[in-house]
Amino acid sequence: MTKETSEFWRGNFGAEYIGRNTEFDRELECRAWSAMLKSTEPGSVRSILECGCNIGRNAATLRELLPRAELNLIEVNAEAYRTAVQRINPTLSFNGTIQASSFPEGRFDLVFTCGVLIHIHPDDLEACLKKMFGYSRRYILMGEYFNRTPVSIPYHGAADKLFKRDFGKLFMETFPVRCVDNGFLWGHQYDAGGFDDTTWWLFEKKA
Ligand SMILES: C[S@@+](CC[C@H](N)C(=O)[O-])C[C@H]1O[C@@H](n2cnc3c(N)ncnc32)[C@H](O)[C@@H]1O
Repeated sequence: MTKETSEFWRGNFGAEYIGRNTEFDRELECRAWSAMLKSTEPGSVRSILECGCNIGRNAATLRELLPRAELNLIEVNAEAYRTAVQRINPTLSFNGTIQASSFPEGRFDLVFTCGVLIHIHPDDLEACLKKMFGYSRRYILMGEYFNRTPVSIPYHGAADKLFKRDFGKLFMETFPVRCVDNGFLWGHQYDAGGFDDTTWWLFEKKA
C-alpha cells in the first residue's frame, strides 16, 4: 500500500470533503485568526502562503482581516484549487503537493497550514516542513491536531490518512525558529468556525 496521501485527497474523498467544508461561522473564523496572529508585529504580514487551502476558507477570512495582504495558495485537489483561485484571485498559486511546489525562498511573510500536516505521511513530513521554512521570510504558523507522541488514527474509515503528533516540537527541533505564540482552539467554542480542537503554533525564523 502506498504511503503517499495526496492521491487520497486528489480523488473521491477530496471531492466529498469540499462539500463538507463550505459553511462556517465567519465571526468565529475571524476570532480564531485574530487570536493566531495577535503576536505578529503589526503591519509585518504583507504576503501570505496557505499550504493545503482547499476551497480557500482561511484565505477568505484573512482577506477580511488583512485586506492589503497578498494571498498565495497551494492545493493538491484540482476542484478545490479551481474554487479557491476563483474566490481569492491569488498572486501565486500551485495545484499540486507542498512537497512538489517551487516558490522562491523567503518569498512570503507568513506561511501556514491548517489541518494539513495531519494528513501527510510521516515519511513526507520533513520535506513539507522544509518547504514551509524555506518559503517563509519571517513567520510560520501551523494549526493541527496534537498528540504528544506520534499516532496514526482511522480517518473516515481509512487507515494511515490521519496522523497526530507534536508538530510544534518537531518544527522547533528541526529548524532555527523561536515559538512566538501558541494556543488551542477548543472545539466546544470553535467547532462552528471550522476549528475542532486545533492546536496552533506561531514561529519566527531566527535572524
Ligand atoms: C482537512 S483539509 C483542510 C483545508 C483547509 N486548510 C481548511 O482549513 O479549510 C486538508 C487539505 O489539504 C490538502 N492536501 C492534503 N495533502 C496535501 C499536500 N501534500 N499538499 C498540498 N495540499 C494537500 C487536501 O486536498 C485538503 O484540501
